[in-house]
Amino acid sequence: MSREQALGGKEAFRLQGVSVAFAVTGGTGEHREAENETTTNTLKHAGRNGGSANPDGIRFVLRDLDLEVRRGDWVAVVGRNGSGKSTLGRVLAGLLPVSRGTLERSAGLVQLVFQTPDAQIVGETVWEDVCFGLENLAVPPDEMPARAEEALLTVGLLEKKHANVSTLSGGQKQLLAVAGCLAMKADVLVFDEATSMLDPESRARLLDVAARLHQAGQTVIWITQWMDEVARAQRVVALEVGRVVFEGAPEVFFYGREGSEGQTPCDSLGFAPPYVVQVARALERRGVALRKRPLLPEEVGDFV
Ligand SMILES: Nc1ncnc2c1ncn2[C@@H]1O[C@H](COP(=O)(O)OP(=O)(O)O)[C@@H](O)[C@H]1O
Ligand SMILES: [Mg+2]
Repeated sequence: MSREQALGGKEAFRLQGVSVAFAVTGGTGEHREAENETTTNTLKHAGRNGGSANPDGIRFVLRDLDLEVRRGDWVAVVGRNGSGKSTLGRVLAGLLPVSRGTLERSAGLVQLVFQTPDAQIVGETVWEDVCFGLENLAVPPDEMPARAEEALLTVGLLEKKHANVSTLSGGQKQLLAVAGCLAMKADVLVFDEATSMLDPESRARLLDVAARLHQAGQTVIWITQWMDEVARAQRVVALEVGRVVFEGAPEVFFYGREGSEGQTPCDSLGFAPPYVVQVARALERRGVALRKRPLLPEEVGDFV
């Protein structure tokens, strides 16, 4: 049974046993009925992905997810390509129905910032682009300028407000997308590999803006395959083939549970931890007792 309902209080999301299924239609145009009580999304060309559909022609892209996100959290969602990260982002944003389980959300607006900067630009100028979302939300015209201006100021694009969007760099386009979300007063920002196409400087810039918003109380879901970015989160959720295989603090994700030897959750997932973590672990293996297990480059000074 699937249920979506509003959530009050301190939580932004509560997922219990959430699964998302696609009906595999193959190339024949044939549609199959999903089993009772299962909402099934149609997955075109699913045959490409090999034999992961069950004999009923239903393929689960997310399976039995239990997850709670508090307001003001910064949650990193990690996993390889195809593990279900974007699907989870879309479910949280209300863009995709759950097939089974319960999804509770707080009443506010959830906005996504996607991987491809151009995919989310609709206006011709920076100003038009930010206002477009406000028009869609039917914000009264006399409120628009102040909201657009404040949002552009927050991301550092105010001086570009008359610029044509085609003159912006990829990083500036991502910041513009963030400004659009802020102007709409989104309660939750979901960044879906939003830095993956950016150069290092723009990447750092976007991360920095997100971090400042988080400090100001914004709930952030940060989907990424970059382990350096994961180190900034309060919590890490790791997905593998549609299942949550780890949920916990970044320190545990990168260094393993207390007393556990060998493979860390990060290792098991097949990702290389941030450089500073690799160095600290190498020292620990040589018997060096560290004062603190660092996650970020700026913590390096504290651990020796
Ligand atoms: N609209 C879609 N069309 C084709 N395949 C999809 C679609 N949505 C999800 N999938 C499939 O679902 C699985 C999870 O996809 P996704 O959530 O995009 O993973 P990730 O973001 O971790 O790479 C993949 O195997 C993908 O092929
Ligand atoms: Mg994705």
